[in-house]
This record gives sequence, structure tokens and C-alpha cells, in this order.
Amino acid sequence: MPIQTTVSVLPEAPADAALLALPYDAELNPKVELPVPVAALLAHYEAKGEAGEIVEVPVTRGDAVGRVLLYGVGDGSPRALRKAAAGLTRRARGKQELTVVLPPGDAAVFAEAALLAAYTFKIGGQGTPPVAALTLAGADEPAVRRGEAVAQAVALARDLTNTPSSTKNPAWLAEQAAATGLEAKVWEEDALRADGFGGILAVGQGSVHPPRLIQLSYTPEGAERHVVLVGKGITFDSGGLSLKPTDNMKTQKTDMAGGAVVIAVMGALAAMGSRVRVTGLIAAAENMPSGTAQRPGDVITHYGGTTVEVTNTDAEGRLVLADALAYADAVLDPDAMVDIATLTGAISVALGRSIGAVYSSADELADELVEAGARSDDRLWRMPLIEDYRPALDSPIADMQNADVGGRYGAGSITAALFLREFTGKRPWAHLDIAGVGRSTVDEGTLTKGATGFGVRVLLDWLTGS
Ligand code: BES
Ligand code: MN
Ligand code: ZN
Repeated sequence: MPIQTTVSVLPEAPADAALLALPYDAELNPKVELPVPVAALLAHYEAKGEAGEIVEVPVTRGDAVGRVLLYGVGDGSPRALRKAAAGLTRRARGKQELTVVLPPGDAAVFAEAALLAAYTFKIGGQGTPPVAALTLAGADEPAVRRGEAVAQAVALARDLTNTPSSTKNPAWLAEQAAATGLEAKVWEEDALRADGFGGILAVGQGSVHPPRLIQLSYTPEGAERHVVLVGKGITFDSGGLSLKPTDNMKTQKTDMAGGAVVIAVMGALAAMGSRVRVTGLIAAAENMPSGTAQRPGDVITHYGGTTVEVTNTDAEGRLVLADALAYADAVLDPDAMVDIATLTGAISVALGRSIGAVYSSADELADELVEAGARSDDRLWRMPLIEDYRPALDSPIADMQNADVGGRYGAGSITAALFLREFTGKRPWAHLDIAGVGRSTVDEGTLTKGATGFGVRVLLDWLTGS
């Protein structure tokens, strides 16, 4: 479900708002009468002015009691504004309305974070709903609408990713992609076979829900650059015959988070005025064990002819991505390709849950993505493609193997990236491993438990920012 909270912008806050939030520097708002002067109140509560800090003050509203929320904004940086904004809509859960007087700074960032903290995903059941109406006073309206567009795109990615796998098979994902309204092309099984997408077919062959390759096209007039985005769309990853243990399997409905990000980004490009031509590819399959599943030891032929010995059917993400990357390189003639995938458990060991990994064969592209990540708050850390580990992928019988048998080389996220690199030709390419950041275990700040939509903000910033 998209974010339910509606946003409006007013030049000034009505002084009688039932729930009114003011930055600590409340002299900006002489109209609001507090029972005790602000400075005395803040001293009384030993408020430090940190972002996320909120002091609640009851005020009279006719015969009723209203409430003013005095909030800290820390150093006023975008990061601090995000924290402050998220704290406010979290505090206003269950309320009809919240009016916020904005501090100086980026209103887009403020609106985006306030709305992300108001995201919920529920299929029936109870719980406190997010604040119904948010009024931002003194804000720049176009900036607020930009922030809202970004937040709704993140919400779409979260929704697709939070949806149970009983609903979201590959065909369903293709329908959701088509619902963006963009030009869509979908390869069903016969077409995948005819065109030689051996990786996607092999991963999907154990499931009763057949695989799909989904292509979305955004073609603005006069575009000078063409970017291809590739998303991993494993609608459930059981591991296949290399079956995952129960604990590792229970979160694997989110293994199409990369594909969800690609759909959500593609859907937001037009409204956000991207001047770049973008093609989105989502390689969708369900990785299941069965009598028709691929076996460890099978050799498959990828799009373009590279043969791979499947030493571990749980290293399936790289198999579906390899087909899509090889196709993009051979057919779409992009200036750059970026793939995004919940690819390896190893990356959450290395970087944890707060920062995503970027690997790249092109320094400039890597720098652009790291900078877009810092601006947008989808933070990225560049990881190295260590050549010494490339032999981990040598197979005695095929061009490559998909997993390092026995883990001789370690570095599971790096070897996965090295595998993908083989399918990117000479194109500038970047790979985002979001297995650590794709899911949140906490409801905190702009994050909600479950899918995070990580990747939407950094890619939208990169494709539509300055
Ligand atoms: N989808 C998983 C990676 C993953 C793990 C995502 C945990 C989110 C949370 C991926 O397909 C996988 O199983 N990777 C294996 C690769 C290994 C078999 C070489 C892994 O990381 O263990
Ligand atoms: Mn797997
Ligand atoms: Zn997977």
C-alpha cells in the first residue's frame, strides 16, 4: 500500500493547530502561545537540541487541550533533518493531523523522511495507523513534492518486497512492472528458451511458477545517455536443491528487492523529469527444489554462450543476472549498466545493515554512485574486485563455476561480483550488493521493519539529480 499520509503545504502554520511541531528556535513563531517561555521549557526538560529529540507541551485550544511538539534539528544537516522529520511522524502515529513548521534547510529531504517513517505494510490485523494528514508550513512546495515522489517510489519497492511469495510469483512481478505504464516487454518460458536465456530458465525450472525476463523502457526525447538497470527478481529463494536451513530461508521472500527497486525507479523517472534514457531489466524466477529443479553439477549455457557449472544451486542470483547483463551488453548498447541484488549473505558480515556495497569496473561511475548515495541517504561503500580471487570461479569442465566449492577463497560477496563482471563486456558497470541493507530488523527513523527499498533513493538521485 502506498504511503497513506497526505501532504499539504501552507505559507504559515495556523496558530490553533491541534498538533503543532516547532523547531526549538520557536521565536520564529510568535503566534504560538506556550504556557512557559520556550527557553525555560527546554532547560526544564534538559533538552540538548539533538535531532530526533522532541519535547511535548500541552496548550489550550478553546475548551480542549492541544499539543505542541518542540523538536531538535541537531546541526541542521540533511542527515539531522531526516532524523528529526522521521521522529515527528512517528510521534504522530494514530493522529488525524500534524502541522510542522520547517527549519531552514532542504524541504525535500524533510518531507521524504517524514513520509518514509509513516510507511506501513499490513494485510489485515491491527496496529496504530500513520498520521492521516501532514501539513508543512513555510516549505518550498516543489521541493516537498519531489520528496513525496521519492518516498512513494521507495514505498512501492517496499510493498513489492514485503508481499508474500504466495502472491508474488514471476508472472505477478511482470504485471506490477507493466503497471508503471512504461513500455514493457516480457519474455515467457518459450521466448526465454528461443533466445537462449539459460541461466534464468535453469533457476526457474524447479518451480511450478515459470520464470520471466521483464524489460521496461523510459525514452525521453533528446536523451544523450542510455543506462541499463538490472534487478535480481528471485520471488522466493529456498536455495533449490542446495536447500537453505529454516532460519536462513524465512526472510527470502525479499530476494527480489533489487527487482522491486528497478520497477520503482523506472516508475518514478517521468514524474521526476529524468533526461537519461533508462532500460530496466528484472530477471525473475522462483528458486525451488523439486523433481524438475536444476542439480548441483549441471552445466548451463547463458545468454551469449558462456557455460557455467552450477556447483551450488543457492548461488542463483548471479545466474539470472548473468543472462540479463549479457543481453544488455549484446543488444541494448548502454553507456553504463548498474545491477542491484540481494546477492550474498557475506556482504552483511562485511558491511552490516546500514551501508550497501558498490563494486565497479569504472572509477567515475563508482564515484558518482557513492556521491549520490551520500546525498540521498542510501549510503554506499566501494568494495574491491580482487583479481587474486578470480580462480575461485574456475571450473574443470565449463567456462566457469557459480560458487567457490569448499570456500577456499572466502570473500563471498567479492567472488559473486567477479562472476557478474564476466558478463558485462567492456561496458562501464556497477554492481550493488544490498543483501545486508535490503531488510530492516527495526522500526526506526526512516526504516520500517521488513523491506527498506534501499537503492531507490540512490538510483533516483543518480539519474535525476544535479
Ligand atoms: N539470496 C541469497 C543471499 C541473501 C542471504 C540475501 C541473506 C539476504 C539475506 C543468495 O541467493 C544466496 O543464497 N547466496 C549464497 C551464495 C553462496 C551459496 C555462494 C550465500 O550468500 O550464502
Ligand atoms: Mn540463494
Ligand atoms: Zn538469492
